[in-house]
Amino acid sequence: MPAKMVKLATGATFAANGFGTWKAEPGQVGASVKAALEVGYRHIDCAAIYTNEAEVGTVFNELFGGDDPTIRREDVWITSKAWNTCGSKKEVVAACRQSLADLQLDYLDEYLVHFPAVWDHEGLPITDATSGLEGADGLAWSKKYTLQNKWEGMEECHRLGLTKTIGVSNYSALQLMDLLSYAKVPPAVNQIEGHINNQRKELRAVCDANNIHVTLYSVLGSGKEGPLQDPTVASIATAHGVSAGAICLAWALSTGCSVLAKSVTPSRIEENFKADAIQLTADEAKQLAGLERRLVVCNMEEYWGFPAHV
Ligand SMILES: NC(=O)c1ccc[n+]([C@@H]2O[C@H](COP(=O)([O-])OP(=O)(O)OC[C@H]3O[C@@H](n4cnc5c(N)ncnc54)[C@H](OP(=O)(O)O)[C@@H]3O)[C@@H](O)[C@H]2O)c1
Repeated sequence: MPAKMVKLATGATFAANGFGTWKAEPGQVGASVKAALEVGYRHIDCAAIYTNEAEVGTVFNELFGGDDPTIRREDVWITSKAWNTCGSKKEVVAACRQSLADLQLDYLDEYLVHFPAVWDHEGLPITDATSGLEGADGLAWSKKYTLQNKWEGMEECHRLGLTKTIGVSNYSALQLMDLLSYAKVPPAVNQIEGHINNQRKELRAVCDANNIHVTLYSVLGSGKEGPLQDPTVASIATAHGVSAGAICLAWALSTGCSVLAKSVTPSRIEENFKADAIQLTADEAKQLAGLERRLVVCNMEEYWGFPAHV
């Protein structure tokens, strides 16, 4: 079972070492989530825009369903996210219900605003055609709804018991301050990119000061050139007899954040899960701290044609 746990300001606790599902292809994502849960992962990160929640739901139903389930639903922390096309309260609630139906769940543990963006598109489920990413003239930003309207939808999901916790993803310090000025239920989590080459120290400090837990994603570099290729990581990995990926995860877990890693490869799923147990020495931690270079591997310009990180 996972050793490192994190606690939110709401009092909820869950496994720090989480499993991701983005870019896991249809036909592979279900098997990867099943392998992750069987190896011991108890924290699974999903999102409507990954367009694979229905396949993940089949696995949840297989493992959590029936009178004698293999794994108890309440032992797993499950996240989903409201995509940028849901702007009104009604749309956010409908999107949350859609994710619940696809995932074959009665409730989410965590529902996040995926990005601080509201686009002028409609339609569920989220597919390539309804994602808002297919417009010939680029992204159409909503003139009707704001992030405040969207947060009211998140609060409604919480009030209705569709999710135990609400939070955000990809929010900057300024966006968090704005949100805190109107939130009746404050965000419990901010899920952001974070790895040895982009350690997010300042934003993590702002989140800590405001009781917002941080989850780090793309800890392994999201398949891009970055943390996994670093020679310092390689030499620390050799010293521990583990892979570079395991050291990247051990660093991320040492920050007190929860972390996400995606893999469809059974041997990597197992080694990533075991990273929970690696103890870095003070000297290794110092060497890894020195690898900061503000590298953005998850640059939305690549996916949206819009430089969201500038
Ligand atoms: N909120 C957001 O906007 C947001 C954005 C990005 C990600 N996320 C979440 O965070 C999760 C993780 O981030 P990510 O998917 O961007 O990337 P990641 O976990 O940093 O990297 C995944 C890549 O690393 C490979 N890999 C996995 N374990 C490895 C290991 N031990 N050694 C070498 N390579 C390894 C995987 O390959 P194989 O699969 O082929 O093994 C895949 O190509 C996502 O799946 C998603 O759930 C959220």
